[in-house]
Amino acid sequence: HQRVFSGMQPTSTLHLGNYLGALTNWVAMQQTHECIYCVVDMHAITMWQDPADLKRAIREVTAAYVAAGIDTKKSIIFNQSQVSGHAELAWICNCVARLGWMNRMTQFKEKAGKDRENASLGLYAYPSLMAADILLYKATHVPVGEDQKQHLELTRDIAQKFNNDFATEIAERNLGTGDLGFFPLPEPMTQGPAPRVMSLRDGTKKMSKSDPSDYSRINLTDDAETIAQKVRKAKTDAEALPSEEKGLEGRPEAENLVGIYAGLEGVTKAQVLSQFGGGQFSGFKAALVDLAVAKLAPIAGEMRRLLAEPAHIDAILGNGAERAQAIAAPILADVKDIIGFVRR
Ligand code: TYM
Repeated sequence: HQRVFSGMQPTSTLHLGNYLGALTNWVAMQQTHECIYCVVDMHAITMWQDPADLKRAIREVTAAYVAAGIDTKKSIIFNQSQVSGHAELAWICNCVARLGWMNRMTQFKEKAGKDRENASLGLYAYPSLMAADILLYKATHVPVGEDQKQHLELTRDIAQKFNNDFATEIAERNLGTGDLGFFPLPEPMTQGPAPRVMSLRDGTKKMSKSDPSDYSRINLTDDAETIAQKVRKAKTDAEALPSEEKGLEGRPEAENLVGIYAGLEGVTKAQVLSQFGGGQFSGFKAALVDLAVAKLAPIAGEMRRLLAEPAHIDAILGNGAERAQAIAAPILADVKDIIGFVRR
């Protein structure tokens, strides 16, 4: 059985990296998979969040999922804190994960910065909670941007160690799937032409909500004029666009803009270059603005419509949480039996 799980942090407005690196793939996977999409509010508080902003962001990310095309009848959308199994399994993952593994996580080093002594314990344990998110549903596929791949490797290590540490109990209870063990090892799915969308100001840095310059990113809720300004100001080099993909090597800004165009249009970079290769950036940028506005404006409009009715959004999350809970409960009960906990 194939099951998809993925999530986004409700820490600020979603940007084009979130959209092309993850969300467009989430929408596509609904055709072929059972999908669970989470708003990871427990991950968000690993760095302090203003409570009113957090609440607003949870609803906004939910609205973005729906507006982008996640079908709430088919797929599950919910916020993490409503299903207590995430916290419960995270503790168990904490006890399986090794300090040496956690110390290798590059995102912690980036986010903690120089003042590491002052980072929260939650920020350090963050990838272990992420492993719990995925394993709680025995998810087999996890569509994410490239920056999450290391966390997926850790998830596989935790799953494998759990399967090994409790191999006897898993076999005794007949809870293994073949010789695969109890937890399937989840596959990261980084697809499409833009698994790593870069900053519009610097083609060597990823597009990120923490970049102080708003000109570095396109937000899903930017209006047409803002998108046009940001694309016009986007850094480029002096040469014309190449006609073949290998001509993008060593030209990170050009490669990024071509990847963004390809991602928005749903084609390959090679196809974009066959159309625009040989031309100047000005013409390509004008086409990119039109395309970005055409794709993003309806999403922003739909988000505004949804956000006008927060009770409806909360109902989506509540219904999703119930359905998620129904999948998670028997898996968590098995985990407790395997470990040797006594339960009611
Ligand atoms: P988050 O909230 O930082 O990002 C959400 C998704 O967007 C992708 N992404 C990008 N993709 C391409 N280019 C970019 N510049 C870019 N920036 C962000 C991310 O790769 C991600 O797929 N730890 C996760 C949230 C999480 C999760 C999970 C994901 C928690 N539990 C379980 C999958 C499964 C995170 O912080 O994503």
